[in-house]
Amino acid sequence: MRPGHGGCRIQAEKKYSPAQSMLDLSTGINPNGWPVPIVPAEIYNRLPESDDGLMEAAQSYYQTKNILPVSGSQEAIQLLPVIFHQYKMLPEKSRVGIISPCYAEHEFQWKKNNFSIIHLLTENIDDTIESLNVLLIINPNNPTGELIAQEKLKKWHSQLKKNNGYLIIDEAFMDSTPENSLIKKNQPDNLIVLRSIGKFFGLAGVRCGFVIAPTKILSQMAYHQGPWSVSGPTRWLVKKALMDKQWIEDNKLILKNESMRLKKCLKYYFSKVDPQSLISGSVLFQTVYINNAYDLFERLAKEGVLIRLLDKACSCSSCSTLHETIYQPNKGIRIGLPANEIQWQKLEAALESLI
Ligand SMILES: Cc1ncc(COP(=O)(O)O)c(C=O)c1O
Repeated sequence: MRPGHGGCRIQAEKKYSPAQSMLDLSTGINPNGWPVPIVPAEIYNRLPESDDGLMEAAQSYYQTKNILPVSGSQEAIQLLPVIFHQYKMLPEKSRVGIISPCYAEHEFQWKKNNFSIIHLLTENIDDTIESLNVLLIINPNNPTGELIAQEKLKKWHSQLKKNNGYLIIDEAFMDSTPENSLIKKNQPDNLIVLRSIGKFFGLAGVRCGFVIAPTKILSQMAYHQGPWSVSGPTRWLVKKALMDKQWIEDNKLILKNESMRLKKCLKYYFSKVDPQSLISGSVLFQTVYINNAYDLFERLAKEGVLIRLLDKACSCSSCSTLHETIYQPNKGIRIGLPANEIQWQKLEAALESLI
């Protein structure tokens, strides 16, 4: 079955709130994204061209030349197992270790291409790494917000490389803390990093992301991607967004402050709902681990606030033991940032109704 995602506001409104629009906090997207200017009509009229300056803007922002634009990091998530399979870059039935829970599309796509998935907690990686062909890490993780230090990642990368294995880091939520990124000026062999324009820049709808990888892998991906994967208007907008240094610096600070406010607010209300509840997150979302998550999700929805129910925890035997304490089916909800004071008030009123 395809994994579910947040952001299905229209569907939720039909079910929970047919009379009024809901406040959608079900994604980890910056609610005050980069302010898009009007795209010139000519850009819609022409086919996208690869030498339009987007590459230079991306190379400067990500500080590397080894880069390929994709239609959302999701496109890279879909392409990577395909090219690993097609070019026989790994032995048959290779083992792909994935920190769990995490963005479910990774596992779905690798499984579709017949790779074996091993679910891991960070603390188990050292014991398992020798047996893995690929280690896939979302840093910082969605939904836990866990951020793994560069030293650990570098150590795992060299261990994998020794056995012709690969480290793949999904840095979709890294823009606020680029100092923790594993992107290198000359990307080392066997290391692949994914970045998204949807989260920090709040441009999820334009569908753009980037892959940073050794040249050979980028060429293979570009070949499978086809000629116009990223649309002309998207290329035009993203180039400008990546060059907007002032907005980028301002928003690192704004998001840091807003996320502290969200964490404090959720701690206040959910500790009253359930003193055992735990909260962890990243700048663009907070996840609450709590017993009656489904019930809380529905009650908030009926108050007009849509959040993300983390109802699909894996039921494999290793996961159910691994996540006994932190993550079980129906035990998590993830909440994104409100955009303004009116939305904050709506969220707080809905949370108040839970107590
Ligand atoms: C961790 C992570 N990686 C990648 C993606 C895909 O994002 P996009 O395709 O918009 O870049 C998501 C989407 O939610 C995500 O949570």
